[in-house]
Amino acid sequence: MSDDKLPEAHDASEGHGAHVAVADDPFADPGLPPHEPRRTDIDERAAKRAERQVSLLFVTSMLATIGFIASYVSIPKAKIVYIFPLGHVSALNFALGLTLGVALFCIGAGAVHWARTLMSDVELPAERHPIEADDEVRADVIQQFKTGAAESGFGRRKMLRNTMIGSMALVPLSGVMLLRDLGPLPEKKLDSTGWSEATPAAPIRLVNMNTDEPLKPEDIATGSLTFAMPGPSASRPNGLQESDEDFQQAIAKDALMIIRIQPEDLKDAKSAALGVEGVLAYSKICTHVGCPISLYEQQTHHALCPCHQSTFDLSDGARVIFGPAGHPLPQLKITTDSDGYLVATQDFAEPIGPSFWERA
Ligand code: FES
Repeated sequence: MSDDKLPEAHDASEGHGAHVAVADDPFADPGLPPHEPRRTDIDERAAKRAERQVSLLFVTSMLATIGFIASYVSIPKAKIVYIFPLGHVSALNFALGLTLGVALFCIGAGAVHWARTLMSDVELPAERHPIEADDEVRADVIQQFKTGAAESGFGRRKMLRNTMIGSMALVPLSGVMLLRDLGPLPEKKLDSTGWSEATPAAPIRLVNMNTDEPLKPEDIATGSLTFAMPGPSASRPNGLQESDEDFQQAIAKDALMIIRIQPEDLKDAKSAALGVEGVLAYSKICTHVGCPISLYEQQTHHALCPCHQSTFDLSDGARVIFGPAGHPLPQLKITTDSDGYLVATQDFAEPIGPSFWERA
């Protein structure tokens, strides 16, 4: 191989285009190619034009974000439109996707265009150095940062800087708008249950959730666990039915656990007074984060929530004896009507379910 075919070694200290021929080293660092100024480096009008293009991209991003918000509040969820070649699509989803995509793309494209046309493109070889920088290196980095900031035109090109800041500031609003999809606030809906319609003059019967039959105290065997829901009431003449449109919402608040405990095993007199003949009705909804409780240990009278193992002593006012639940299960006051059926004459004395509902 002749010497003129061999690569050249680069002396980094000499910057761009400094090449040193090394005849006996075929693996020598070929070095950096000579720096060629871009048009924007030598023509201020071209630089201005590039600046306007970058700013236009950032402004487009801002408009797209505003379009995202306008679409979110103005386009009905059910509106369907035909978009070629996608076919029939949700107008809201299409508009949100399009505007958010444009907003993010324009920020990215603006940043790339800025870097390629206006920021310094001088390549600097980075020498290996110890990981821990000494003071001199730190000072050098800070100086390089300042130089880079100055060369990027961030301080000098005010229009470009301001539009970039504007687009970056607006784009997070898209995420804020989506918080609305967390749904309407529950307001007072969680404060009461379907049992709230019960009064001494118009009691509501406790109905077995499996058989749909009203319950009597003698139906509840000691050691058994029965699930119940509200029977007929003024607003639901047929009682709560699975076919009801709001069944899931209603049962998530109204479901009861019915147990019978021998009077001598009851530790809490106040809880015993809320029952009838040792039959007690507790909310089935765990006070931790609202799982339905379904495990009952008849010897200890402990109810166990399967989600995070909160354990409630049903013989002691459903006191929490283990787990993350914050307070006892609410108990529904029950009695019997003239036909001997178990009835409620009032709602729970406190909101059922997770503690935060009560605090909200
Ligand atoms: S929901 Fe019951 S313990 Fe967490």
